[in-house]
Amino acid sequence: MRVNHVGEVCAQALYQGQALTARNPANRQALERAAAEEQDHLAWSEERIRELGGRLSLLNPLWYAGAFALGAAAGALGDRWNLAFLAETEHQVEEHLSGHLARLAPSDHKTRAIIEAMRADEARHRASAVALGAAQMPQPAQLAMRAMAKLMTTLAYRV
Ligand SMILES: [Fe+2]
Ligand SMILES: [Fe+2]
Repeated sequence: MRVNHVGEVCAQALYQGQALTARNPANRQALERAAAEEQDHLAWSEERIRELGGRLSLLNPLWYAGAFALGAAAGALGDRWNLAFLAETEHQVEEHLSGHLARLAPSDHKTRAIIEAMRADEARHRASAVALGAAQMPQPAQLAMRAMAKLMTTLAYRV
């Protein structure tokens, strides 16, 4: 759940960075709407961590800063690439959450409900980015994003 929370910290930062640099008002509005849902995710996962007696990642400020810079950079490339980055991020988050659901204890209904709700939102965020004209992320960029996500989830799992 700490890893999921880090993901949501990054989602906050990404969306804020992207909304800052998005050019088209409709896109900016969609980014802001999604960002509001990401705020819910952040709150849900933090609350669940507290209930389970866990702690948040110590590296959260670092995650935030890195993701903000990435979001702003993606935004600076123009809306089509901004949305492409967003759609691919949401796609990878969906996959990560599905993996977590598969490993989750079947008796942990509360965590399951939270993750399922988040996954449904992320799927909608991806669909709306595609509907707004996201470009298709080139394979090497997808792989680079996967490598970064892997590093992030491994680190956040421990620290
Ligand atoms: Fe989220
Ligand atoms: Fe999302």
